[in-house]
Amino acid sequence: MSKKLQVIKQNVIECVKCNLSKTRTNSVPGKGNFKSNVIFVGEAPGKNEDKNGEPFIGVAGKKLSAALEKTGISREEVYITNIVKCRPPKNRVPTTTERDICQEYLKQEISIIKPKIICILGNTAFNSLLGGSEITKFRGKLVRKDNQLYFLTVHPAATIYNQDLIKVLNKDIVKLFHLITELKNNKEVKIDIDYSS
Ligand code: URA
Ligand code: SF4
Repeated sequence: MSKKLQVIKQNVIECVKCNLSKTRTNSVPGKGNFKSNVIFVGEAPGKNEDKNGEPFIGVAGKKLSAALEKTGISREEVYITNIVKCRPPKNRVPTTTERDICQEYLKQEISIIKPKIICILGNTAFNSLLGGSEITKFRGKLVRKDNQLYFLTVHPAATIYNQDLIKVLNKDIVKLFHLITELKNNKEVKIDIDYSS
């Protein structure tokens, strides 16, 4: 792991900057390949993640892993993190204050990894990073903002009881890696929404 990411990880582990530090078992720093072309950003750790200190290792994580594996990508090849690094009590949505305070860590992760695309998983990440809502309307789209590309898809947890959404997630992940391949080959990609202009 890069030294700088190691420092962030340690800071997250020790962090007491917001109230979630009082109720968590373990903070959950981002994890994965610091040379990844993509960072996946979820909402917040759940029960399993809080217990083990690793992101997306519960049922939602299995859905994400399965979608990646379908395109021949292993979890270890990518970088996975969350908007907030500590579990909110009863899995409530993290508050705006908690998100604002914690986002400094995500900004640092992004600036070190410099991903070609940030993959937004679900509404909380969509809202926090791009001010958006109603991800199901915008999923599958490529967004540009401040010279950074974002790809939008549903949260893997939303697919647990919804077969249709599993297909959507799988399809989106295929598109995401297709886009990354195009970018690696310096091909033009179609920007669906441009916040830069
Ligand atoms: N849901 C998330 O948003 N993140 C995790 O790490 C696990 C479940
Ligand atoms: Fe720190 Fe983020 Fe955890 Fe709050 S959620 S204590 S800001 S790591």
